[in-house]
Amino acid sequence: MNGKFITFEGGDGVGKTTQVALLADALKSMGLTVKTTREPGGDVVGEKIRNLLKSCKPSDMDPLCEALLMFAARRDHFVKTIKPLIDKGYFVISDRFYDSSLVYQGVLKKISFEDIMTLKKITIGDFEPDLTIVLDVAPSVSIERLSMRKLILDEYDLMKKNEHDLIRKGFQKTAEIFSFRSVVVKAAGSEQKVFSRIMKIVQERIFR
Ligand SMILES: Nc1ncnc2c1ncn2[C@@H]1O[C@H](COP(=O)(O)OP(=O)(O)O)[C@@H](O)[C@H]1O
Ligand SMILES: [Mg+2]
Repeated sequence: MNGKFITFEGGDGVGKTTQVALLADALKSMGLTVKTTREPGGDVVGEKIRNLLKSCKPSDMDPLCEALLMFAARRDHFVKTIKPLIDKGYFVISDRFYDSSLVYQGVLKKISFEDIMTLKKITIGDFEPDLTIVLDVAPSVSIERLSMRKLILDEYDLMKKNEHDLIRKGFQKTAEIFSFRSVVVKAAGSEQKVFSRIMKIVQERIFR
């Protein structure tokens, strides 16, 4: 089977990291070679840019500077990790990809859709995921999950509920725009319940 690229999107606390791990285990148990990865991050340079982004207060960073750093990391991630592994036949599963830039640097930080898509084009060209799972849940649920995850929340976690609403709507919109590769999955319910919804979509879209 050819390599595939599956991305998970959605606001903080929707369950992306949890579901990436569950999907990776399921695919591995089917005998597939799987690599899980995340954005911002990936290889050496991408992880250094991630640390730089995490070490700055978002309010201290100019939005375009932030978008450029995100796409610099994404370029490194694409060239060093995603593309070579897909070419080798891997199932690469990424916790976030460029839809996150359209929502966080676009919708939230007001960089235009066109400008984000220009950066996308320059850095990764026409490349697209084979499947994007957009996890969607009421902000009250994701905020509750976040508060249980850790005691120290960073600035992104502390965004107010209205920002969680904006983020949720932003991802619903990217799913609509990129409907050829995106499926919105209800992320309420237990981890296993959400996972069974995801696995059904992966069966239909990837293994049909
Ligand atoms: N379906 C679920 N029901 C209850 N708790 C969940 C569920 N999925 C994830 N969690 C928990 O909620 C927190 C956030 O999940 P996580 O996977 O880290 O979300 P994200 O990566 O989208 O921020 C974690 O503590 C995780 O264990
Ligand atoms: Mg996560």
